[in-house]
Amino acid sequence: MTIHKAVIPAAGLGTRFLPATKSTPKEMLPVVDKPAIQYVVEEAVAAGLDDVLLITGRSKRTLADHFDAVPELEAALEAKGDTERLAKVRESTELANVHFVRQGQPRGLGHAVLQAKHHVGDEPFAVLLGDDLIDERDALLTPMLEIQERLGGSVIALLEVPAEQISSYGCAAIEPIDGTQDADTVRITGLVEKPPVDEAPSNLAIIGRYVLHPAVFEVLENTAPGRGGEIQLTDALATLMDMPAEQGGGVTGVVFRGRRYDTGDRLDYLKAVVRIAADRPDLGPDFKEWLAGYVAGAEV
Ligand code: UTP
Repeated sequence: MTIHKAVIPAAGLGTRFLPATKSTPKEMLPVVDKPAIQYVVEEAVAAGLDDVLLITGRSKRTLADHFDAVPELEAALEAKGDTERLAKVRESTELANVHFVRQGQPRGLGHAVLQAKHHVGDEPFAVLLGDDLIDERDALLTPMLEIQERLGGSVIALLEVPAEQISSYGCAAIEPIDGTQDADTVRITGLVEKPPVDEAPSNLAIIGRYVLHPAVFEVLENTAPGRGGEIQLTDALATLMDMPAEQGGGVTGVVFRGRRYDTGDRLDYLKAVVRIAADRPDLGPDFKEWLAGYVAGAEV
């Protein structure tokens, strides 16, 4: 695999999760006992990406601190002989080479990705949204990297959503790729950011995993602010879609059928915590016993 860089935008305002996100990035909210961002970095590393660039915003410090060593805490745990917790503290420091770049103002996801231009250079790279969790048991990024290496251009992840939810997402029009056996790998023929339900070309929503051709940077530099006054990655992808393959154009979609949680959305966040806690060997048995009793007595 030649792709080895991951870019993780984590500079959004997180307004859907206020006031928790007033001084803490939403990517630092704990999902059970790990911040969301750590799951995302672990996913990147598991897919073979060892160079991680976090795009941070105004509350950068907690994010940076999480991937740094904490000598006084480590010394205290060491002195107590608490090797289990010491290993947990060191896990995030030892995961990958984590770099940081600042997005001065949250001018949109496209603008956040553009901040990675210098670090990434002229090679394809992955983008993982820092608030979007993909269950580690369900493969997504690795097949996307393989598809980019095979077909070139850029690759985006798609999820079927109920029609009434499509206006919260970027939406894709698709067609089958001739000669492929895999019906879930499709050609993107249209992209629109947060369309009204009656104008959506499909119920396929763009979710937070991308493998992008470096041509995206020049396109982003020439992409005007779109919906919400923000520089939209979806708009840049729509331009790439129509560009010739020799110039890095073409966009392929991968339809994901696994478990995904948007931890920037309060309801989805709660579902993520419950499902991940229920599956944990250390917490799951006790938690599920309590949960079953709670659900039996709850009014719906
Ligand atoms: P969202 O649209 O979910 O982020 O962006 P948001 O604007 O923070 O959320 P709400 O709607 O106000 O709650 C998706 C991802 O892109 C990043 C976010 O941090 C998130 O990981 N992002 C978004 C940036 O890094 N910079 C931006 O300017 C916008």
